[in-house]
Amino acid sequence: MTTGLHVRDLVTEFHSREGTTRVLHGISFEVGANEIVGVVGESGSGKSTVVRSVVKLLMPPGRIMEGSAEFHGQDLVRLPERELRHIRGKEIGFVAQNPFSALNPVVRIEKQFANIAKAHGLKADAESRGLALDLLASSGVNDPERVMRGYAHELSGGMAQRVVIAMALYLNPRLVIADEPTTALDLTVQRQVLDTLTRLTKESGRSMLIVTHDLGVVANYCDRVLVMYRGRIVEQGPVSEVFVRPKDPYTVSLLNSVVQPKAASAGPAPAGSTLPTELFESRSV
Ligand SMILES: Nc1ncnc2c1ncn2[C@@H]1O[C@H](COP(=O)(O)OP(=O)(O)O)[C@@H](O)[C@H]1O
Ligand SMILES: [Mg+2]
Repeated sequence: MTTGLHVRDLVTEFHSREGTTRVLHGISFEVGANEIVGVVGESGSGKSTVVRSVVKLLMPPGRIMEGSAEFHGQDLVRLPERELRHIRGKEIGFVAQNPFSALNPVVRIEKQFANIAKAHGLKADAESRGLALDLLASSGVNDPERVMRGYAHELSGGMAQRVVIAMALYLNPRLVIADEPTTALDLTVQRQVLDTLTRLTKESGRSMLIVTHDLGVVANYCDRVLVMYRGRIVEQGPVSEVFVRPKDPYTVSLLNSVVQPKAASAGPAPAGSTLPTELFESRSV
C-alpha cells in the first residue's frame, strides 16, 4: 500500500446550461508522509478546485471527469460518499479560508468537538474533551475552557481559525488540507496562525497540502511547491530548487513580482546557493 496522497491526471469541469468549463487540465502531484506541499498561482488558476477535488468537496456544478486521487491505497475519486465522510475529518483534516463558515453558529464549541468525535464512532468523554482543550491550548487559544463553553461569534477571526485548526487535528488525521487558511485574518495574526498550523502538522508527522498566495509562506514552511497557471501545474519540485532556479517563465514572473529589484537583477543563483527566505518575508502577490 502506498503512503501519502498521489494525484494522477485529474481533470475537473464545471457544467452549466451555458456550457462546460474545463478548470483542471490533468493535474498530477504527490504529498509524501511528513511533507508540507504548497500550492501557488494567480487567482482563478484552479488552486481551490484542486484541493476541493481531492476531498470531493467541489462546489456544484463542479465534476471530476478523469483521474485519481489515491490516499493510502484508496482512490478518493471513486470512493462512495459514505466512506469519504469517514475519511474527511478522521484521515484528512480540512481548514478553509473562512473559519466562520466551518463553525456552527448556534452550537457551543465543546459540543462541536463532541459531535466530531461521535460522527466518527468515538466516545465524547472527559478524555476526548481534555484532548480538545490541549489542542486549543497548543493552537494558541488563551483560555480554552472559556472558548469551549462559548459560541463562534464570541471569537475573533484569528481565534476562530485556531479553533478550526484544533478541530481539523482533533482526530489525528494523516493529512491536513488548508485552502488559504489565513487570508481572512489580520496581517498581524496570519503568521502566528501559520506557525501554529505548520508546527502542529510537523510535530506529529502529518503531511499537509496548503494553498496560499503568499510566497513567503511557501519559502518558510513548505518542503515542495506546485506552481499553477490556468488549470495546469507548470512547475513543481522542492522549494529550494523551484524558488532558486525556476524553470517555467510563469514561475519566473511570479517570483519577480515579489523579489526586490536589487536581488532580482543579481542574475541566476550560483550553484549550491540556499533559499533566500528573507526575500519572501511578509511579501505576497
Ligand atoms: N462553482 C463554480 N462554477 C463555475 N466555475 C467555477 C466554480 N468555482 C470555480 N470556478 C472556476 O474555476 C476556475 C478556478 O477557480 P479556483 O479553483 O477557485 O481558483 P483559485 O483558487 O486558484 O483562485 C476559475 O476560472 C473559476 O471561475
Ligand atoms: Mg481559491
